[in-house]
Amino acid sequence: ITAEKAGFDHFMLKEIYEQPKAYRDTMRGRISEDGRSVVLPELNMTPEILRGINRVHIVACGTAMHAGLVGKTIIEQLARIPVETDVASEYRYRSPIITPDTLVIVVSQSGETADTLAALREAQRCGARVLAITNVVGSSVAREADDVIITLAGPEIAVASTKAYTSQLIAFYLFGLYWAQTLGTKTADEVAHILAAMQSLPEQVEKILAQAETVKAVAEEISKHSNLFFIGRGLDYAVALEGSLKLKEISYIHSEAYAAGELKHGTLALIEDGIPVIALMTQEELYEKTLSNIKEVKARGAHVLGIINEGHEAEAAKSVDHQFAIPRTLTLLTPALSVVPLQLLSYYASLALGHDVDKPRNLAKSVTVE
Ligand code: G6P
Repeated sequence: ITAEKAGFDHFMLKEIYEQPKAYRDTMRGRISEDGRSVVLPELNMTPEILRGINRVHIVACGTAMHAGLVGKTIIEQLARIPVETDVASEYRYRSPIITPDTLVIVVSQSGETADTLAALREAQRCGARVLAITNVVGSSVAREADDVIITLAGPEIAVASTKAYTSQLIAFYLFGLYWAQTLGTKTADEVAHILAAMQSLPEQVEKILAQAETVKAVAEEISKHSNLFFIGRGLDYAVALEGSLKLKEISYIHSEAYAAGELKHGTLALIEDGIPVIALMTQEELYEKTLSNIKEVKARGAHVLGIINEGHEAEAAKSVDHQFAIPRTLTLLTPALSVVPLQLLSYYASLALGHDVDKPRNLAKSVTVE
């Protein structure tokens, strides 16, 4: 077992550290030689079919659903097609409006999640095309979908998903860019610019991993609390949801992820002296707004860890108690970096509490019952 973990204490930590490789493998062969366009030869859909699609439903469970929340912004920003996201266990029962010009994207690490598979079948029954983003070649979801993009994260053993989630983000970026270049919603130069930034992501994740120890100290502090908050706006909110889920799954510490601007509509009442708040502040255009929400929680005694962009250290130091800076990237790409310190935070919090990191109580890696 130790050999399989390649010297790491847990599969989760090993998988967190495998992310640079997972990013590279998922991108490999899918970016043209000159780095200016996306090539997805595995797609059965023709450019004509893609041009005929007018709406998207992203359906998945758990962490894969959180990747879908980022996927929504990616597709809407790049291809300007409206996207809805649903948890798979809700999708079929709300009588969703699925038309032949709807593309349903199912996201599943295992490709075997019962609710996700049922959603795929319902979508096809209604005449929609289904694209699967999955990590397992030959899985049920991969076999039944009309189109498949395989994430090349490699086998994920830890119940808490890390490299599968980030590889799903990479798949969404590639597909979103492919769609944008097909529709012309982004210029060739814009696509090339985003692709260049994507190719820097693996190295940037390595830089974050080199600072894992700084996260450990904060995690140990957090492990003494039984309640905390994750806040953020825009893509930071989507990442906050994933950070909160990760922490709950393996540390059993209760946390809530909140859209930063929504706090004052109720939850601010729960902010009391000493409560940890993890504030994601990577969306430049929303930075000032998030800062004002941080002031609200600080005024009530919260202890704030800011996840910030490099370059904001001095300024952020005036408002937060601890900070972790992620390397500079394009706003749209920040989730592929900002989630990494949150994965480490959950890992080290779980470790500090002495829990079984790889096999948390009550959870299964793959859920094949509805
Ligand atoms: C289970 C796992 C989660 C995972 C979810 C969806 O609940 O514990 O970590 O996100 O299933 O799994 P999938 O294989 O469909 O991505």
